[in-house]
Amino acid sequence: MCGIVGYVGKRQACPLLLEGLRRLEYRGYDSAGMSVLHGRELHTRKKKGAIADGLSRLIAASPLEGRTGVGHTRWATHGSPSDENAHPHCDPHGRIAIVHNGVIENFQQLKQTLSGHTFKSATDTEVLAHLIGVHYDRIVAARPDTAPRDGSHHPLAQAVMNALREVIGTYGLAVVCVDDPTVLVGARRGSPLVVGIGREEHFLASDTTAIAAHTRDVIYLNDHDVVTLGSTTCHVASLGPDAAKVQVSRLEFDPEAAERGSHPHFMLKEILEQPRTVENAMRGRLNHEEATAKFGGLNMTLAELRDVDQIIIPACGTSWHAALLGEYLFEEFAHIPTEVEYASEFRYRNAPLEKHTLVLVITQSGETADTLAGLRESRRRGHKVLAICNAVGSTIAREADGGIYLHAGPEIGVASTKAFTSQLTVLILLALLMGRIRMLPPRRGQEIIRTLETLPQQMEAVLALNASIRRIALKYAAAQNFFFLGRQYNFPVALEGALKLKEISYIHAEGYPAAEMKHGPIAMIDENTPTVFVIPTDSLYHKTLANLEEIKARHGPVIALTTEGNTTLAPRVDDILHLPPTLEPLFPLLAVLPLQLLAYHIAVARGCNVDKPRNLAKSVTVE
Ligand code: G6P
Repeated sequence: MCGIVGYVGKRQACPLLLEGLRRLEYRGYDSAGMSVLHGRELHTRKKKGAIADGLSRLIAASPLEGRTGVGHTRWATHGSPSDENAHPHCDPHGRIAIVHNGVIENFQQLKQTLSGHTFKSATDTEVLAHLIGVHYDRIVAARPDTAPRDGSHHPLAQAVMNALREVIGTYGLAVVCVDDPTVLVGARRGSPLVVGIGREEHFLASDTTAIAAHTRDVIYLNDHDVVTLGSTTCHVASLGPDAAKVQVSRLEFDPEAAERGSHPHFMLKEILEQPRTVENAMRGRLNHEEATAKFGGLNMTLAELRDVDQIIIPACGTSWHAALLGEYLFEEFAHIPTEVEYASEFRYRNAPLEKHTLVLVITQSGETADTLAGLRESRRRGHKVLAICNAVGSTIAREADGGIYLHAGPEIGVASTKAFTSQLTVLILLALLMGRIRMLPPRRGQEIIRTLETLPQQMEAVLALNASIRRIALKYAAAQNFFFLGRQYNFPVALEGALKLKEISYIHAEGYPAAEMKHGPIAMIDENTPTVFVIPTDSLYHKTLANLEEIKARHGPVIALTTEGNTTLAPRVDDILHLPPTLEPLFPLLAVLPLQLLAYHIAVARGCNVDKPRNLAKSVTVE
């Protein structure tokens, strides 16, 4: 959570930091700030609110000069969003500035050791800034002038390392000090941090999106790494038991993909991209001849995959909803018992995992702390962990035994859309592969592949319903409660439709299996509570129709998503959308699109900040 960026080099730092922060704003936007070193002076600007409303204006009114600096965009954990709690935070003498992503769990205890110190904020980060300051004073006082200053011998790097040895918790850190305006220090444990290598310049960032416009050569830092950067020098040391491992990676990233273009919001852009991103998720992975799927990075043999007799899928949020569809698919295609777990629960439960259990984590960002902890716990227990992940080079992508990338490109809108449909696509393919090495007949495999190939075009047709969906959205935009119902494969879609609406419009919305509604939630139904029914004309159509009638009998307005050719449903519902026919397990890929657009248009009609909904952040790298 929170975005951090740092720069040391020959260019002016302020515009680079500001641009980087704008690109990282999806990680948090409660407040933003930066500190820049100008000669031996440290200048800091920070402000509550999104960058455009706060920090940008401050800087326009009072620009910052200097070639070294650190910046931060915040998602509050300790201390409410305010100017005081915004980062950077300084040591008591105002010489050292730090930006931090993560949680210092023992900050109260550390604070008690800092007797006589006065704190301006309620943050854990300020305590760390003071602690680094104390160590810095000690080191400088004890050092002869002739002591080496390169790399981890630099007094700032040493102070950071000494302070971090006292810290329990997680951090991605960037630190500067007035005594040496040519040096930037970074450290990582549990929160991502990447070094960007430029020509006579270095960047630090919590995410490559912040720096990809300036360099493609990056070093993903590992936990316990401490990096000391000059404009032409980069030295990585480790606080862990092993020596630091440094590997320069080349980014495959199209900076334009992270631009909004002519779309009013990233979320709309990303919704409309889905025919293409789903195609990307399939590209090169269909094996027509053998009626199966193939993946390059599973790092498991077919024999190992065939030995799997249980699948556990830990995930969070939207990825958890994709996982739920995965459960249906693995059981249907491959008859493998599958459990979906909230990653935050899984990590603290002693879930019994059989010997041949495959743990499959699903994550867009590859940085979600709960999911990462689930991965580490599973690996510690000796299980193979595969990751379905979008962010290339992310911590989870690197720590998993193998995995499948979504290739959906950067997802910037905080409410996940295109990652979800890509996750579904990859899960269908993986379930197909698992099925085909068991008992799924080739004819069924061929049918799935053929139908999958027609999906991008069908998705275009669904997106072409945008104007009708907007009309429906405007009709119901004032509702205070919403239900989303579906059965079987469409139950996860109902959950995801409800989540999208909650996230960006703040309307109370619940997703339920359609038939479960009658066991309690139906008490909520009245003429002001709309229900969205995902009701394709499939094998459960008549059962779901009975559930729909139960809502109508209580005067609840119904918006139905059904299949083209259904001519009997329209008179029974208030609003209806017809989607192209497909195989039952594939219908979610079509059905979720109108639900994303519905949430989007309702949020816009209610004047909500669609790309930056209140209280949320895209990537939650704290527990
Ligand atoms: C956050 C986001 C959600 C996202 C979830 C899991 O809570 O706000 O939109 O679904 O994290 O993220 P991941 O990157 O692991 O898929």
